[in-house]
Amino acid sequence: MASKASAPIGIFDSGIGGLTVAKAVRQLLPKEQIIYFGDTAHLPYGDKSTAAIQAYSVKIADVLLKSGCKLILIACNSASAAAFDLVKEYVASKALVCNVIDPVVDYLREFHPDQKVGLIGTKQTIHSGVYLQKVNALDVGITLESLATPLLVPMIEEGFHKNEVSHAIIDSYLSQSIFEGISALVLGCTHYPLIKNQISAYYQGEVKIIDSSEIVAKSVKALLEYHNLSDKGVKRDDQFMVSDFTPSFQHTTKLFFGEAITLEKYPLWE
Ligand code: DGL
Repeated sequence: MASKASAPIGIFDSGIGGLTVAKAVRQLLPKEQIIYFGDTAHLPYGDKSTAAIQAYSVKIADVLLKSGCKLILIACNSASAAAFDLVKEYVASKALVCNVIDPVVDYLREFHPDQKVGLIGTKQTIHSGVYLQKVNALDVGITLESLATPLLVPMIEEGFHKNEVSHAIIDSYLSQSIFEGISALVLGCTHYPLIKNQISAYYQGEVKIIDSSEIVAKSVKALLEYHNLSDKGVKRDDQFMVSDFTPSFQHTTKLFFGEAITLEKYPLWE
């Protein structure tokens, strides 16, 4: 592989929400330089067609390759469901490519065999059936019940956490009968770590809430180590690009990343 250990990690998402994944990567791998791309011009991906998400994802992968990334992490669940195979094929041997679904499926195999597990995500993620195919392919007796929960992304982006509105929406999704008897619930969307505590409270701590951002960061670390690509040099500044800029995107970065960062505009198509 042409990439070197000192090259950056590319992380992309439909918008700002993927910063939850970037944050977990940065916490676990503080020496790695991150180049983040949020496709704010085309969000939300959760309601887009597979073909549209594939076109955007390949274009973004190209931007990240041009930035010399050694690894491209598709932080968006919707893009991981719709475009992982295509991006991997496009990138070929130029960089490692990973998604946010496979590490969670591996985690389920290890910690939840023979159990009933719930999954929530966008319409794209759930209707793609990708989690279900991968979990069924494990053949370890996991019953996966999935529900599209499209109101959660706008709710979180508009700052509705821990209030009556968010309680009512979360209750109405999680009280669906398909989720009766689950031992774990996968948060299959970049935004959901922000309401992890509220979801945990709904189950009164009796259901394991699986936050994919931490699991994904661990798998990126393992992958870099396996390929001898961990950066051991001096930390270089992270870079955060967006395909469209508004003050509101800038404002929400703090919500998802935990600290203020500066977004640079990089239009995908000029
Ligand atoms: N990033 C998306 C995901 O994880 C959520 C936001 C969107 O629909 O674009 O599926």
